[in-house]
Amino acid sequence: MFITFEGPEGSGKTTQYRRVVAALQAAGADVLATREPGGTSIGEQVRDIVLNRLDNTMMSPRAEALLFSAARAQHVDELIRPALAAGRLVVCDRFFDSTLAYQGYGHGLDLDALRRVTAFATGGLVPDVTIYLDCPPEVGLRRKVAQAEWNRLDALALEFHQRVYAGFARLIEADPARWLQIDARPGSDAVYAQIAAALRQRGLSL
Ligand code: TYD
Repeated sequence: MFITFEGPEGSGKTTQYRRVVAALQAAGADVLATREPGGTSIGEQVRDIVLNRLDNTMMSPRAEALLFSAARAQHVDELIRPALAAGRLVVCDRFFDSTLAYQGYGHGLDLDALRRVTAFATGGLVPDVTIYLDCPPEVGLRRKVAQAEWNRLDALALEFHQRVYAGFARLIEADPARWLQIDARPGSDAVYAQIAAALRQRGLSL
């Protein structure tokens, strides 16, 4: 099974991802826990380029989309597909839905073109379940300011993040069976309880 986590900035997604991975492992699952952009040595090098807030302010949206996609292609070929073929459970912090939400809805790149690029990068691999941490950008960005962890995309205007947020809503509407939509505004324990319950309904032990 292939599970991904998605959400806008400051939704607490990475904290929840770590809790879910730890709980699945504690219940005995053989888990590959990974993230995008990154996951592989090549992917982490691309991550440094694409998220660099100081040097790469001139990056064009198309170049950005292709860099995320290049990292993804390496990730799928080197890690994700082999793990799935070996019967492991793969849990990934962000995947191609982030490209559609950020580069598509956020930057306004052509969605059909991005879908084709994405399909090429993944070889058609689609997650079985996508956990969406739903948190309006006004709330999430305030949380991020408190943590002082800014990457190049966080630093874009609030309107950009509002388009990303609306974009995620459209992606969920288009494919509701794949997405588990979780309200990310309550405290971490309450959010985790919602996720665990939803995953148990999908047959997972945690
Ligand atoms: P990261 O530091 O991993 O933060 P987060 O906790 O928000 O996941 O940063 C990843 C950033 O890259 C985040 O701003 C979303 C963005 N992103 C895209 O714009 N497109 C993509 O395809 C991916 C995978 C990430």
